[in-house]
Amino acid sequence: MAPVSPLVAETEAIVKQFEYTDEDVNRGVKEFLRQMNEGLEKDGTSLAQIPTYVTGVPNGTEKGLYMAVDLGGTNFRVCSVKLNGDGTFNITSAKVAVPKHLMVAKTAQELFAFLALQIKKFLEKHHGDHFEAHIRRRMTVSSPDGYKDEHAFRMGFTFSFPVQQMGINKGTLIRWTKGFDIPDAVGKDVCALLQDEIDRLQLPVKVAALVNDTVGTLMAHSYGAPGTHGAVLGAIFGTGTNGAYLEKLSNLKKPLVGDYDKSTGDMVINIEWGSFDNQLNVLPQTPWDTALNQQSVNPGFQMYEKLVSGMFLGEILRLAINDLMKNPRISFFRDDNSSTNDLRSTTDIAETSPIYKQWAVDSTILSVAAGDHTPELSLLRKELDDSLQIHAAAREDAQAFQAIAAAIGTRAARLSAVAIAAVVLKTGKLTDPAYEGQPIDIGVDGSLVEHYPYFRGTIQKALECVEGIGKEGADRIRIGLAEDGSGVGAALIALVAAGMEKHSTNEEYIGELRETAKTAASADNEKATTD
Ligand code: BGC
Repeated sequence: MAPVSPLVAETEAIVKQFEYTDEDVNRGVKEFLRQMNEGLEKDGTSLAQIPTYVTGVPNGTEKGLYMAVDLGGTNFRVCSVKLNGDGTFNITSAKVAVPKHLMVAKTAQELFAFLALQIKKFLEKHHGDHFEAHIRRRMTVSSPDGYKDEHAFRMGFTFSFPVQQMGINKGTLIRWTKGFDIPDAVGKDVCALLQDEIDRLQLPVKVAALVNDTVGTLMAHSYGAPGTHGAVLGAIFGTGTNGAYLEKLSNLKKPLVGDYDKSTGDMVINIEWGSFDNQLNVLPQTPWDTALNQQSVNPGFQMYEKLVSGMFLGEILRLAINDLMKNPRISFFRDDNSSTNDLRSTTDIAETSPIYKQWAVDSTILSVAAGDHTPELSLLRKELDDSLQIHAAAREDAQAFQAIAAAIGTRAARLSAVAIAAVVLKTGKLTDPAYEGQPIDIGVDGSLVEHYPYFRGTIQKALECVEGIGKEGADRIRIGLAEDGSGVGAALIALVAAGMEKHSTNEEYIGELRETAKTAASADNEKATTD
């Protein structure tokens, strides 16, 4: 056997630190279940287990026209959704990148004014007839309560940050995640912040529901893929990570302050699992994880998210790769002369390369690395060249890079299995006679599950080793991509919320406006393209 090259040996030493064994998975699941129960009992725990005031999942027969907006991480999206009542829907949507300076704005108002402006532009563009009808009405008719009540559109607001919910459309921001940092917004009701800006622009829109993206995903997956039962879990593995599931009201021991429908006996819980085990009882920590956490905007928080989600994987990789580059025992991304490089050219890294800059390595390079099966790793080397400005990387160096990226991605997927397994076990569906012989549906969304090759497969495999699930149980767990949780899911929750609203004196007036809106929107939907 040929001796292992120093580069391979040093790479393996790094890879080994990212190993997350079957035993680790099982330990993780037990601790996750313990922290889930703790979060149902009291506030201030690391798994927040936030009651959402949504008390059931849809069955596909829901109908109507709703608006939905989504502030999740990188983008802000505005849509109108027509639920057709047969599990299908038509959606018109527009998306803009959230300017970086607004993510760290001085005041919340600056950010929310920008959001309201996007809603205005959307209405003008896609629901112009209705928008003008509203303006005309406002000038000619006065409703009993003034224009503020002319809310023709009920809107679901997907706001994917930890929020303490006080009702279906009321909730205060606990803290920012995913690189947002506007201290002024913490502790404020985010629905009121948005409604104020909408009212300032006199738009015919009412923020009817506050929706976490995972709750939207759970609802959308239950609506769009209705089996005998709705989905058991809605989860996001994207820029951030989190999950929502349906819990028995009787298990929810902490007090609920807002109104809700008690008849179903259930409530959707937003787990906020990004903060699982902030105290690090069981989560792994390599030196690179420790460094990343210390340099983040929220040290000590979202500790699970920092190992799992897209916002962080690129940075973990960057830190590990930098250490390998500095390792004096080897030459990595450095060659003595062109004869040591299979490209016959020495590797050259631009001074401005993202590899030297905190947070600058995008996690998509992990997907490229995982998907490159070419013998020369030509896809990965092109990506190194294009996006990291690492020019003429040698094949062995690209192999080392690939191995470390794979170790980070695999650990993330196996850690994801911990949360999924715990929720499946918590709901007891695998042993529920009503589910006998039936799949356990899990709706997922986000860039990692969509684009990282093998992410779902690796999760599925890890589920097999979990006590209480095993191969047989894992085969029943069906992880499917959810259709547009932040659009359809939010619209469904707006529908639930509209049903809960107290009858107002100008209900007929609103009904009339809604009819106008419907006609305008269906005409528009036929023309519009979706994204
Ligand atoms: C947020 C969650 C959200 C998740 C996925 C996390 O950073 O705290 O509320 O659901 O990202 O977008």
